[in-house]
Amino acid sequence: MSRSIVQTDLSGPQYDAWLSYRSGSSTRGGVAKHAPSWIQHIIVNEKHEVLSTAVAELIQGLENIYGVKPTVNQAQSAQTNSDAAPGIWLGTWSGSSSVAGQFSESERTSVQGEGYAIRFNEELGQLAIGSESAQGVLYGTFHVLRELTLTPESSIDAEPLESRLRYIAEQPRNSLRMINQWDNVDGSIERGYAGDSIFYEKGEFTRDLGRIRDYARLLASTGINAISINNVNVHQRESLFLTEHFLGDVARVASEFRAYGIQLFLSVNYASPIEIGGLNTADPLDEQVREWWNVHTAKVYAAIPDFGGYLVKADSENRPGPFTYNRDHADGANMLAEALRPFDGVVIWRCFVYNCKQDWRDRSTDRARAAYDHFTPLDGRFADNVILQIKNGPMDFQVREAVSPLFGAMEQTNQVIEFQITQEYTGQQRHLCYLVPQWKDVLDFDTYAKGEGSEIKNIVDGSMFNRPYSGFAAVSNIGSDACWTGHPLAQANLYGYGRLAWNPELSAEEIAEEWIRLTFGHDEEVIHTISAMLLSSLDIYENYTAPLGVGWMVNPNHHYGPNVDGYEYSKWGTYHFADCEGIGVDRTVRSGTGYTSQYHQQNTDKYESLEQCPDELILFFHHVPYTHVLHSGKTVIQHIYDTHFEGATQATELANQWRSLEGKIDASIYDKVAALQEEQAEHSKEWRDMINTYFYRKSGIDDEQGRTIY
Ligand code: GCU
Repeated sequence: MSRSIVQTDLSGPQYDAWLSYRSGSSTRGGVAKHAPSWIQHIIVNEKHEVLSTAVAELIQGLENIYGVKPTVNQAQSAQTNSDAAPGIWLGTWSGSSSVAGQFSESERTSVQGEGYAIRFNEELGQLAIGSESAQGVLYGTFHVLRELTLTPESSIDAEPLESRLRYIAEQPRNSLRMINQWDNVDGSIERGYAGDSIFYEKGEFTRDLGRIRDYARLLASTGINAISINNVNVHQRESLFLTEHFLGDVARVASEFRAYGIQLFLSVNYASPIEIGGLNTADPLDEQVREWWNVHTAKVYAAIPDFGGYLVKADSENRPGPFTYNRDHADGANMLAEALRPFDGVVIWRCFVYNCKQDWRDRSTDRARAAYDHFTPLDGRFADNVILQIKNGPMDFQVREAVSPLFGAMEQTNQVIEFQITQEYTGQQRHLCYLVPQWKDVLDFDTYAKGEGSEIKNIVDGSMFNRPYSGFAAVSNIGSDACWTGHPLAQANLYGYGRLAWNPELSAEEIAEEWIRLTFGHDEEVIHTISAMLLSSLDIYENYTAPLGVGWMVNPNHHYGPNVDGYEYSKWGTYHFADCEGIGVDRTVRSGTGYTSQYHQQNTDKYESLEQCPDELILFFHHVPYTHVLHSGKTVIQHIYDTHFEGATQATELANQWRSLEGKIDASIYDKVAALQEEQAEHSKEWRDMINTYFYRKSGIDDEQGRTIY
């Protein structure tokens, strides 16, 4: 844990991440053979901040890819440009008739809001990027740059670039595509593994807005359109973000994100009226309290007219909330919604609510049940500008847990899904863990809310219940580290999250390959090796950590490294109940906590039954003897031994795979990853031996293969 993985050199490929725009060669800024003539001019007839961003991105990207700096014709009226001029034409449907004219009416109406269309007109030598909105044009621009970077030199002759750009139309599937920063104003980051905050330092906002802008471009290039900039645990000083003391700073940060089409949100302290307002209550039905929020919200909008709204963690892990006043979450959220409504703002209210002062002797309270039990009775009571933010699982971002039964359980309530990109429980950016396959599993999970085909992705995109607000949120994994994410390959998680939020149908493989090509170039061996490493990493991590969905065998507080009983006798409700006979949490209706009943019938039946329950979740749903035989044909105890031996071997293989790339990867990235993979390989043995030894001693059952267990 002690060695710092944070580096501070902010120039070079680690910092550029997937936006270094390598051309066909794997060296940065290499010049492609064929620089087409149409990339040499950019024509834009409208004035809009986000369009200027698009132009700046194009110039920078094209120059890096082709070594040619395009000229820009930024005339304000269409008349000054000849419609026949070759080049890249950018514009919105209403602002640029030249761009709009490149698309039929039905093509234009098929992409709305932030959607975009791209057409290469061979006759005129024009590439048009158009959208209803300036943001859409920016996303289209990033798409073109991606396409240009992804086309290797060697394939240009086979498939001309222009034919790849002949016609593209994209529409984001989710309206909210949000990042949550868990940054504190003292400069620390809750669950941050990549250095300090890029937003704050020693109790103040940073003066380095350039770094924030660079972050904004990384996010926008993947399609992110919203960000909350402070930790959901809002302490006293951050509560002042709503006041004159900090609003100027917040507004400056908002303008950096605005330039990239990203809307800014703040996490707020539910007890602000008391903590910074001088009132003696935060009761949501109290007139003075309501007025306090109305007044302060109006001030926020005076400073930031396009402010997005509030993110709230209330009555959760010792944070204040409406329960103190015998009010419920709907009362609390609706009060804030009322203050935000005149400005079209929204309240994002988190559902991570459970009793964190549980008595481990009490077997009837089940933390997994909590969110559903608290929130489903409130369906229909939330204002239409309230969105519930629900973690993907009912516990807390474990490497494996069931999916939250809240998805599909509240038809009259806006819901967004919350993922954790920062690797709190998945190796803390010291271990490699590509999370996209896990997120895909969750999104593809069929809730049966409206019969077969009711996947979570269709609930959180708003389509299933026709909700006005919907989408994705996720906790960021970046910090002041030169490569942003501590582990250079953890950038794939940030990239993958944005791409999935835009289009949840993309596969984990496609996203991995795209990210590798953009980041490392087109060397087939590099692509093949890193892709294999990424795609196997989640299974490997699961293999050597907590088995079969039971979770939580980590050291308390910091959550790094093995500690089988770390949470077994604690108040956090995170038990495994291992004894000499068996292990697991009985969450059945028949004999356990009844959690299985929170799903729709088909899933209840599947999880309730020991026969039907999938192996990987067996200990999440059932308490079984070590000799219980899984579908795989192995006993639970033998599965534990086998996966832990295998996982540690696989972690060593990951280090070897990486070493095979020496000389093919930028040296600073190579060295950093090599050191981290070494550490993972060593640390996985610690996991292996602690878990195996623990269960060997508990069960007294020998490993069939007679391997060393202590
Ligand atoms: C986890 C995490 C906390 C965080 C909380 C949350 O419990 O360990 O640091 O505050 O999630 O999501 O609110």
